[in-house]
Parts: sequence; C-alpha cells; structure tokens
Amino acid sequence: MMDIEEAAKRISPQFEHIAADGLLALEQLQLPAGAEVLDVGTGVGNFAVFLALRGFDVLTGEPETDTSRYARQNWTARAEAVGVAERIRFQPFNASAMPFADGRFAAVFFFGVLHHVEEGERRRVFSEALRVVKPGGYVVFFEPTAELLDQIKDRDPGHPPAANPDDYRGDAPAAATKLRGRRMNIYFYRAAGG
Ligand SMILES: C[S@@+](CC[C@H](N)C(=O)[O-])C[C@H]1O[C@@H](n2cnc3c(N)ncnc32)[C@H](O)[C@@H]1O
Repeated sequence: MMDIEEAAKRISPQFEHIAADGLLALEQLQLPAGAEVLDVGTGVGNFAVFLALRGFDVLTGEPETDTSRYARQNWTARAEAVGVAERIRFQPFNASAMPFADGRFAAVFFFGVLHHVEEGERRRVFSEALRVVKPGGYVVFFEPTAELLDQIKDRDPGHPPAANPDDYRGDAPAAATKLRGRRMNIYFYRAAGG
C-alpha cells in the first residue's frame, strides 16, 4: 500500500495533515486489520481514501439530494490516483436515517461533516451513528479548530461554525476522549456493550 507522503504528492499537500489527524484517531481505536468502517459525508473523499490506505474496508456516502459545494465531488479521482478505489464503496444515504443494520461497523467516522448537517438533524445523526457501530465500538467526529476555520472562511465566507458533538448526544455518555489534532478537534464516543 502507498505511504502517506506519496499519496499527498498525488492528492494534495493538505492530505498529509488530514492523514496526521486520522492516524491520531486510529491509534486510539486499535481496530482489527481490514475491518469494515463507515465514512459519513464523502465530499472530495479525503478521509475515505485515508481509511482505505490504512487497509480498511470503507463504505462511504452522502445524501443524493445535497446540492452544496461540498457534495457530489469527484472522490473517485483521488481514490484511483492512490490505487485504493477497490477498497471503497459509495452508497448514497442521509445520516439521519442510515440504511444499515444495528452494530454493522467497527467504527463510524465524520470528518468535517457534523457542522454541515442541518442543525435539526444532528441529534438523529448522532444516535444513528451509535446504532450502526458495533457494541463497544467508537463513533469519531473530526471538527475544524478555530485556526483551520479562519483559513476555510477565507475561501468560503458562508462556511458554518464548528459543531460540538456533545450538544447533540442526547442521553448518550459524554465523549470518552477528546484530542486536539493538527487541524481538527477529535471527539470519541463509545457505543454501549461490547
Ligand atoms: C466538507 S464535506 C466532508 C469532507 C470529507 N469527509 C473528506 O474527507 O473529504 C461535508 C460532507 O457532509 C455531507 N453531509 C451533509 N449532511 C449530511 C447528512 N445528513 N448525511 C450524510 N452526509 C451529510 C455532505 O454531503 C458532504 O459530503
């Protein structure tokens, strides 16, 4: 499998920062090799490609109806450029009603996604993520730091503020761990059981 440095050359220099934050999260999770994971909110596919490069079996998707500038991007170009297209399956879905069985995935990731979900849907999205992850598995949210948001806002002044997933957890326990990555704050929630 291609290393991150080579992948960043083929994708974009930012991919190295994305991968650094992804590796920080994976260190905490210690997932079994080749596990099936869910990447919510495909976008340009950075995180799906990162997970595939680490050897996971990745399912990714976003709502078919999303017409924002962040959806319906050519994520396959990135996956093909680094040779991981066969490890990623795309299926459109809305995370507020996920078409997946309870306990299917070893982990569920939201990389730069929760703040793009409509405010009124965020609680349902959170509980759906806890439903589809295996008992004792983790749901992980990556949300931009204030510094990264300033940079994003230079390109996209209407970009929404970062979300704090704790505001949407309902009765679920508070984040088990919070980490500050290079560009993202990372929040880990553990599903009951396991
Ligand atoms: C900035 S992009 C995410 C970047 C992407 N994860 C990456 O690594 O390149 C935001 C994504 O959130 C998705 N999204 C917004 N609301 C959603 C929802 N209710 N369910 C699933 N995805 C959603 C958008 O369609 C878009 O794909």
